[in-house]
Amino acid sequence: MAILARIMSEQYPTPNKKQKTRASILIDYLIGRDGHELDTYRDPELYDKGAHSHLYRRDNLARGVADVAEQHMPHGHKTKVLDIGAGTGILSLELAGRDYPVTAMDLFASQLGRLSKKAEDQGLTDKVTPVEADMNCEFPFEDGEFGTVVSLRANRYVKNFGHWLGEAHRVMEPGGTLVLPVFAVDIVPWKRNSDEGIYQPTSRNAVIRAILDSGFEVDEQASVRYSQSVNQNLGQRDVPFYYKPSFVVAEAQQ
Ligand SMILES: C[S@@+](CC[C@H](N)C(=O)[O-])C[C@H]1O[C@@H](n2cnc3c(N)ncnc32)[C@H](O)[C@@H]1O
Repeated sequence: MAILARIMSEQYPTPNKKQKTRASILIDYLIGRDGHELDTYRDPELYDKGAHSHLYRRDNLARGVADVAEQHMPHGHKTKVLDIGAGTGILSLELAGRDYPVTAMDLFASQLGRLSKKAEDQGLTDKVTPVEADMNCEFPFEDGEFGTVVSLRANRYVKNFGHWLGEAHRVMEPGGTLVLPVFAVDIVPWKRNSDEGIYQPTSRNAVIRAILDSGFEVDEQASVRYSQSVNQNLGQRDVPFYYKPSFVVAEAQQ
């Protein structure tokens, strides 16, 4: 109990020098910061350096997700990947660094600008294509363009999950793979941001049902196997319990 209290009250510096605790960061996150929750993404340096990065190793999380995506690439080739809600590119750049061509889609040019700068610094410019687009509208891609679709910590901003899944399915080649980590900590924000409100299904089982309804086949064994292995890997990689994802790995049907 004393250890828990110490962890929750630990102080973290933020760029504007204010001290924030883990607990206050978590509370801000759950209540949506008075409707200003998207502001962080307009300031990508704050996003990258900011309070959340003190909570857990985001790069470790991205490595775990990239491991899962890589283990499940369709047809075993270097497939074209779409990263939805790519942000400043923590996952896109991890996959690009593993030689996959990645299209990084995000709502904010500011986030993508920082992603492009990091791609340049890492010599990955020709592997990453930034695309500014709203994932709650039609995706600006052709049918069947991608072998793999990934999305990390962006589903909390999805308004209509059925529509989002329909678009993900449309832009995937038959047999393509969707890798969607589901986080317990996203339940409240996702319900808050969804058109469905509190009725937005957010449990792993409900997410799986929606994915099945959208024309995917869910590989339950793969999902369970990966959830176990990734949870373990992420544990070793210093990610707190509420940021350990359950994975849904699904295959697009014709
Ligand atoms: C928590 S961040 C995750 C970013 C990145 N995937 C990562 O793990 O670091 C959520 C991202 O979703 C993006 N986003 C929010 N609403 C969006 C929308 N409607 N369409 C596309 N991207 C959106 C934000 O700009 C932000 O970059």
